[in-house]
Amino acid sequence: MGVDHDVKDLGLAAGGRLRIEWAEREMPVLRMIRERFQDEKPLRGVRLSACLHVTTETASLARTLQAGGADVVLTASNPLSTQDDVAAALVSYYEIPTYAIKGEDNDTYYQHIHAAIDHRPNITMDDGADLVSTLHKSRTDELTHVVGGTEETTTGVIRLRAMAKDGVLQYPIIAVNDAMTKHLFDNRYGTGQSTLDGVIRATNVLLAGKTVVVAGYGWCSRGIAMRAKGLGGNVIVTEVEPLRALEAVMDGNRVMPMIEAAPMGDVFITSTGDINVIDIHHFEAMKDGAIVANSGHFNVELNIAGLASIAKGEPRRVRPSVDEYVLPDGRRIFLLAEGRLVNLAAAEGHPSAVMDMSFANQALCAEYMIQHARDLQRTVYEVPEQIDKEIARIKLEAMGVQIDVLTPEQQKYLTSWEEGT
Ligand code: ADE
Repeated sequence: MGVDHDVKDLGLAAGGRLRIEWAEREMPVLRMIRERFQDEKPLRGVRLSACLHVTTETASLARTLQAGGADVVLTASNPLSTQDDVAAALVSYYEIPTYAIKGEDNDTYYQHIHAAIDHRPNITMDDGADLVSTLHKSRTDELTHVVGGTEETTTGVIRLRAMAKDGVLQYPIIAVNDAMTKHLFDNRYGTGQSTLDGVIRATNVLLAGKTVVVAGYGWCSRGIAMRAKGLGGNVIVTEVEPLRALEAVMDGNRVMPMIEAAPMGDVFITSTGDINVIDIHHFEAMKDGAIVANSGHFNVELNIAGLASIAKGEPRRVRPSVDEYVLPDGRRIFLLAEGRLVNLAAAEGHPSAVMDMSFANQALCAEYMIQHARDLQRTVYEVPEQIDKEIARIKLEAMGVQIDVLTPEQQKYLTSWEEGT
């Protein structure tokens, strides 16, 4: 008898398995952890519900947790990010109950989250905090089994810190996002490359010579701006935080308010974590043919309802992942992937080589949580430094990169204060 599931089509499983195997070639750290987990079974008997983007990389993580003895179920963390062939392979080949269909409506999205909660998890693994928030809002009866959790992304960590601040968070959660081996690589290089990949796959526009407006200058937006520039774009950054804005200027970008950038941009990409970053008055100021995408966790960064309210008639799907909105004077605005994270909805998400480190953090933090939860408070924790450093060390080793070691003389110098000019 097969495992419980709600996926698009189990007939896609063979292709999904091939793509999972392809991704695993680039995930040496996770592979190494899986081998140890296989022997040591540190998660034996642990029920783990994961709410993550259902991709080839997530499949590798789920298999690693399973190898460690965990009883894993997986639900999507976004209605548009699921890779249906991967969901099918997880069910058919790896016996991991999976609830995820690309394009599912909001009701189905939450039904799937409830299915993951029905698993009565001891550990939650979240990307965006929808699983944790649903548990705390409407399934408090299931909180008694949960000993701890992990959170993958900036947006989720912000939500969880707000819960901890309000005293409502009911169990400890490790902010995987905040590990150096996560955000410095996944957020910057992963989001940078995959976001441009999404824009290009959706539109096939040439970016050389185009004005690309990037909203925000956190780690994700820095990566997007850097890659847009690398493809020949003229980059404008919008920010609200002076230090970040200054950094954007000194990195060679133009910086200005969104309302000034709006008439100049050919392509707009938001990645700020806040709402209505592109609002009605910005859409109204855009030129004909402007392309608008979001790469932040939620589609709220764009006021899509506002765009629909000022557009004539219904939007027209002109290519997969491209909806055309026509303003009353005939100007057209092209919205990508319904404003969902364009890197996952129109491309394949971050490449495996960076997810290797992010998900190594997830696996090791799940293990840490099982070992230490009873000593932790109901709040948000940083990833332990030894986990972060160990992942960096293994990744370098796997890449065949060697580094220097301090000599005893150098070590002594670093701890002394007498020597000066
Ligand atoms: N978030 C961004 N890219 C991802 C990927 N490839 N898999 C899972 N989560 C992601």
